[in-house]
Amino acid sequence: MPDLWQDAMDHAVAVAKKAGEIIRDALQNDMKVMCKSSSVDLVTKTDQKVEQLIIASVKEKFPEHGFIGEESVAAGQPCVLSDSPTWIVDPVDGTTNFVHGYPFVAVCIGFAVNKKLEFGVVYSCIEDKMYTARRGKGAFCNGESLQVSDQKVINQSIIATEFGSDRDPEVVEKIFSNMRKILCLPVHGIRGAGSAAINMCLVASGCVEAYYEIGVHCWDVAAAAVIVEEAGGVLMDLEGGPMDLMSRRIIAANNKTIAERISKEIEAYPALRDDAPPGTTQ
Ligand code: IPD
Ligand code: CA
Repeated sequence: MPDLWQDAMDHAVAVAKKAGEIIRDALQNDMKVMCKSSSVDLVTKTDQKVEQLIIASVKEKFPEHGFIGEESVAAGQPCVLSDSPTWIVDPVDGTTNFVHGYPFVAVCIGFAVNKKLEFGVVYSCIEDKMYTARRGKGAFCNGESLQVSDQKVINQSIIATEFGSDRDPEVVEKIFSNMRKILCLPVHGIRGAGSAAINMCLVASGCVEAYYEIGVHCWDVAAAAVIVEEAGGVLMDLEGGPMDLMSRRIIAANNKTIAERISKEIEAYPALRDDAPPGTTQ
């Protein structure tokens, strides 16, 4: 079978490297921080510049392809996944980390055809770790093969999650209540890198058994989703069943046993879908 998308993936790796250089340079300078949905949902000129660079460079090589990019959607572009080859881009995953110099910041480039993710590139650019995976061809970090943990016992596990950027007291209450349930199973620990994609790459690397979150976006998780699966892990919806990329919720785990255990504990709450028509309210 011809290796259809290798060229596209090589291009994604090259452009992610370039994007990482820009992000690292920007850390040395003053940055102008702006807010999006709330005072804790941050964006910088670097997020916008890097997304423009990635999209322009891909468009030049693959003019027929579509895009979903975090900052383009913020600027009013649609967020709809069609059957066409589509690049799903988060120029800076972990913007809050970036603003504070907390060293977990990733460039995320996922690629889907017929709504199925074909490859993912997550460049943790401060650590200089390039995570890559192609459907059916394994997952790698800087060229080294990745494998999820073989732990099946939740009490022997580390679970990653995040607080997100919604500070509605009811949402915060549910985040804490879910975390308390997981913590008191008990598990060995709860962690959060401040980047959904890096949390998922840590699952793929085998040092965290699972990651869950409600409130993520498709661009936070698309690239890392392929990396988790190709490292032998599973993706699940919070209430069980297959993960829906547009649903704003995810469990990424080393195996089904751990994923199902988490889904059994956690109470889901609504988040507006990424592909909700403009003007839709929850
Ligand atoms: C966020 C990070 C964060 C997660 C949020 C994401 P951003 O992405 O991944 O860890 O909790 O849900 O939106 O805004 O830094 O690209
Ligand atoms: Ca981002």
